[in-house]
Amino acid sequence: MSQPPLSHQDFTRAFRDALGMFATGIAVITTRAPNGEAIGLTVNSFNSVSLDPPLIVWSLSRHLASLPVFEACEYYAVNVLAEDQQHLSQLFATRSDDKFAGIEIDDGLYGVPLLKDCCARFECRNTTRHAGGDHLVFISEVVRFDRVSERSPLIYHSGAYRRLAPL
Ligand SMILES: Cc1cc2nc3c(=O)[nH]c(=O)nc-3n(C[C@H](O)[C@H](O)[C@H](O)COP(=O)(O)O)c2cc1C
Repeated sequence: MSQPPLSHQDFTRAFRDALGMFATGIAVITTRAPNGEAIGLTVNSFNSVSLDPPLIVWSLSRHLASLPVFEACEYYAVNVLAEDQQHLSQLFATRSDDKFAGIEIDDGLYGVPLLKDCCARFECRNTTRHAGGDHLVFISEVVRFDRVSERSPLIYHSGAYRRLAPL
């Protein structure tokens, strides 16, 4: 028996659920607005692109108010969260006037705020952006990075936070 076609809503749900099968880490992208305000949002669309030159990718929803700031900024940072930083993922995934209140930061290149105690941090030059449907895709050159090797990353899978476990 043939299945009835999915409604747009059911298609979107099924598509999101299927995408959620791809486990990722979690990162917070940070930068400064032209008025100096620290800006940040949680993403799981971060990934590596190229070793030489060193390029990374992530995508930003076109619906977000921070889009013009990220489009125009010269530099930003990718802060890869550790397994005990779920609270930072939630904080930076929630609309708020000052997500950085009470958060300790390091000063990155060109004043970009860097989160402390992350697994790794990548400072990037905002080189290339591509239209990607309802998202803007950033492909950027890494100009500096650091890594804390003993920290385990926070994992995101099927809409839930997880931690790494050995096979
Ligand atoms: C686990 C997780 C992953 C997310 N990944 C992305 C992403 O890759 N790109 C994006 O635009 N928003 C992503 N979001 C949603 C943003 O973090 C969220 O919309 C946030 O509120 C944006 O900040 P703003 O409201 O201050 O603009 C993700 C949220 C969560 C919880």
